[in-house]
Amino acid sequence: MLQIGSVLLKTNVVPAPLAGISDKAFRILAREFGCHLVYTEMISAKALHYKNSNTLELLDLTGEPEPVAVQLFGSEPEVMAEAAKMAVDYGAAIIDINMGCPSPKIVKNGEGAALMQTPKLAFKIVEKVAGSVSVPVTVKMRKGWDKEHVNAIELAKGVVEAGAQALTVHGRTRDQFYTGQADWNIIAQVVAEVEVPVFGNGDILQPQDAARMLEQTKCAGVMIARGSFGNPWIFKRTIAYLAGEELPEPAMEEKIKEALRHLDLVVKFKGEKIGVKEMRKHLAWYIKGGRGAAKAREIINNEEDYEKVKDILVDFLQQQE
Ligand SMILES: Cc1cc2nc3c(=O)[nH]c(=O)nc-3n(C[C@H](O)[C@H](O)[C@H](O)COP(=O)(O)O)c2cc1C
Repeated sequence: MLQIGSVLLKTNVVPAPLAGISDKAFRILAREFGCHLVYTEMISAKALHYKNSNTLELLDLTGEPEPVAVQLFGSEPEVMAEAAKMAVDYGAAIIDINMGCPSPKIVKNGEGAALMQTPKLAFKIVEKVAGSVSVPVTVKMRKGWDKEHVNAIELAKGVVEAGAQALTVHGRTRDQFYTGQADWNIIAQVVAEVEVPVFGNGDILQPQDAARMLEQTKCAGVMIARGSFGNPWIFKRTIAYLAGEELPEPAMEEKIKEALRHLDLVVKFKGEKIGVKEMRKHLAWYIKGGRGAAKAREIINNEEDYEKVKDILVDFLQQQE
């Protein structure tokens, strides 16, 4: 049984923290598709400090069963600790610290993947956060900054010493952003060097990839990001595959049914105006590969009415026969 500190996980397949994607609706769907631990989008510790209302909304975990990991980003130990305490008050079962975000906007402030360049500060943040909350603290990191600065092993050892109780390693450097192939060897090396559970991350697009990663790296669990876009089935299919059962890919009818449910949830939580807009990318992912998908996507991208978007999806499904 996989355990992060005091938190027992029912499965070692976890959905990734995803800015703009892993909102409450996404987390509910991931759970319906078999996940247990789920992650929020990355949340700015500084914005929580200033009580920014949009940021506080990201912390809303009402109605969600435990365990939800709240992912924080920031570079100031005190501010991170204060944000972690707030997150726990809002129901976080785990605090995950982002040391992987490659975005220029983030790294220019010394946050996200930039912390891999300032390991002493990274360790201090973990120590301060772990000393401030009673829930487990975890870290999500990359392979390093660039190919001349691969330091995942040193960083992993240091954050564990500072109190991190699990790690996720994305096998790319910061300067690769999301391109090229993820290096699973670095995941294996970190696994071999630390005592805490390590989640491997990068390039799991099919259940078989997860099985290969677990075998090749001996990681305790796998984290899936882009492979789940418009495809929550990947969670269920991966969990089943790891238990010895192969489930088929979903048919378009199932995909549309799920797209409609996803749309309903997002509109329920965010209202029609924001919900319909935010769902555009998700809907494009759900219908991808279907007949007339490009045209349907274009219509959806110009539609603001919830009922009309639903009609477009139903029409799209009829076109598939
Ligand atoms: C649109 C998008 C948003 C992301 N947001 C976050 C985030 O908020 N926090 C984080 O730690 N990683 C974030 N990531 C990185 C993913 O969690 C993951 O590490 C990366 O995509 C590699 O996994 P994959 O190959 O399965 O996609 C994001 C990635 C994408 C593509």
